[in-house]
Amino acid sequence: MKIAVLPGDGIGPEIVAQAVKVLHALNLDLTLEEAPIGGAGYEAAGDPLPEATLQLAKEADAVLLGAVGDWKYDSLPRDKRPERGLLRIRKELNLFANLRPALLYPELAAASTLKPEVVSGLDIMIVRELTGDIYFGQPRGISTLENGEREGINTMRYSESEIRRIGRVAFDIAMKRNKKVCSVDKANVLETTELWRQVMIELAKDYPEVELSHMYVDNAAMQLIRAPKQFDVMVTGNIFGDILSDEASMLTGSIGMLPSASLDANNKGMYEPSHGSAPDIAGKNIANPLATILSVAMMLRYTFNDEVSAVRVENAVKKALAQGYRTADIYTEGSQKVSCSDMGDAVVAALSL
Ligand code: IPM
Ligand code: MG
Repeated sequence: MKIAVLPGDGIGPEIVAQAVKVLHALNLDLTLEEAPIGGAGYEAAGDPLPEATLQLAKEADAVLLGAVGDWKYDSLPRDKRPERGLLRIRKELNLFANLRPALLYPELAAASTLKPEVVSGLDIMIVRELTGDIYFGQPRGISTLENGEREGINTMRYSESEIRRIGRVAFDIAMKRNKKVCSVDKANVLETTELWRQVMIELAKDYPEVELSHMYVDNAAMQLIRAPKQFDVMVTGNIFGDILSDEASMLTGSIGMLPSASLDANNKGMYEPSHGSAPDIAGKNIANPLATILSVAMMLRYTFNDEVSAVRVENAVKKALAQGYRTADIYTEGSQKVSCSDMGDAVVAALSL
């Protein structure tokens, strides 16, 4: 089995190094090969997704990604910017199903900005569609109108089959969990999501055991803060999922804790932390590597079907937390503040506990 390792920009290289350390410590029969993406891709080959990187990612069984983006690339033309590399690799590999679990580790209840009783026991799976919606819809662009004024255009669109395949992923996951799916839309205003709702209702007939509910995205944003434990699986489109998954991450104490998996129809996947490249703290060895390490656990589970190793990694993270180790973002008084690489070492050590 081959893993393409794409560290990317900002804190990407440091957090990926910790995840790679954990992978090596598992002693599995895996080959790792590294390539640049994002700003690093632009520096190396003038392209945020260099052809060689894309080829490697296509050949590999799974992709481990750090993060992309740095303010210093903000003035580049849009197709050269780091984010475009990420969006393109998602699209090229057809990774339409983005799983973003928001799980609260009991040790971190105090690190959440919400009251412990609101978040303790929280376990939500956000299923975000990743290759459609306003992110990719045509027409798009900035043009100049006849009166000389500029106009920006993006297009929200979803075909029935795109909605159905992400819906299936959500229902299948719900069957292995608490059998509840909340579909998030804005069907009161947007036709695209009115269709979304209709397709979810049709699909639910194939899953009689699953309880399907619907929520408008504005209400969902509010309910996530008011009473997040009402949710089991949430399924939504690309842009709503982008926003709600950042919101959900804060319930768990820090976005630095949230892994993600982006899967195609055959469970080939790209695994990355849900957070960004945080250029402000890059190179300081203070970032939280746990989201990336937990992404490795998701890789073992979803692509390599190795539940035993996945649980081993997750348990090692829990043990490191139980031992009191905290990176700065999840630090609370009385715990032990550690660096990014120390946290990686702590997880590796906990693998053999
Ligand atoms: C994410 C990020 C990306 C997105 C950006 C970096 C393009 O915010 O993975 O959530 O919007 O999908
Ligand atoms: Mg985002």
